[in-house]
Amino acid sequence: MKFEHYFSYCPAAPPNRRLLHTTLRGEKYQFYTEASVFSRDRIDAGTRLLVETMDIQPGDTVADWGCGYGPLGLVAARLAYPGQCYLVDINRRAVALAWENARLNGLSNVWVWVGDGFSAVEGQPFTVVVSNPPLRAGKKVVSRLVEEAFRCLRPGGRLYLVARTRQGAKSLLRQVEAIFSQAETVARKGGYRVFRAERARSHE
Ligand SMILES: C[S@@+](CC[C@H](N)C(=O)[O-])C[C@H]1O[C@@H](n2cnc3c(N)ncnc32)[C@H](O)[C@@H]1O
Repeated sequence: MKFEHYFSYCPAAPPNRRLLHTTLRGEKYQFYTEASVFSRDRIDAGTRLLVETMDIQPGDTVADWGCGYGPLGLVAARLAYPGQCYLVDINRRAVALAWENARLNGLSNVWVWVGDGFSAVEGQPFTVVVSNPPLRAGKKVVSRLVEEAFRCLRPGGRLYLVARTRQGAKSLLRQVEAIFSQAETVARKGGYRVFRAERARSHE
């Protein structure tokens, strides 16, 4: 079988489906996962740190860039209710799973689509963008993510990103600082860092 990245557009590997049971932000969740999606055997430690750190308020309009099977975006959707949460991924298998997992966890304020970043939602005014970015996809993809997040956030809107310290976290922080003018590290644990940046209100 040919090697596939977790960010393949249309994975060919047999799905070999599993059901994960977990608790996030004090609530129980279940997630179907399949082969060729990111972290199929357990919730990634970086994702978990970001989930536990992100500040999402009821009424927020949230986007999850690179949603995988949905752990980040679906917890965000529950926290943002009655606000809406938009999940995008380039991997069709991941998107189908995220959609199914939204229903499995009783979430109706969720929109999921297959796409290359936010190209389909330019101009959508999000109050929060969250992402566990695909660092393996390369610096170009990740810097586009940061630029798109800036353009799609309302003034005052916030970006949360997680990265492994040894896998380019510092360079990611510099990219965020360059585009948002400021960024801070809001959590560090188990070799991961969570960054937060806010789109300045003066960009209105
Ligand atoms: C590190 S994984 C995180 C997945 C999920 N958010 C989680 O925390 O488990 C990054 C995700 O970004 C997706 N991705 C990669 N390039 C993308 C692109 N250009 N547009 C949208 N999603 C992309 C990958 O398919 C992958 O699911």
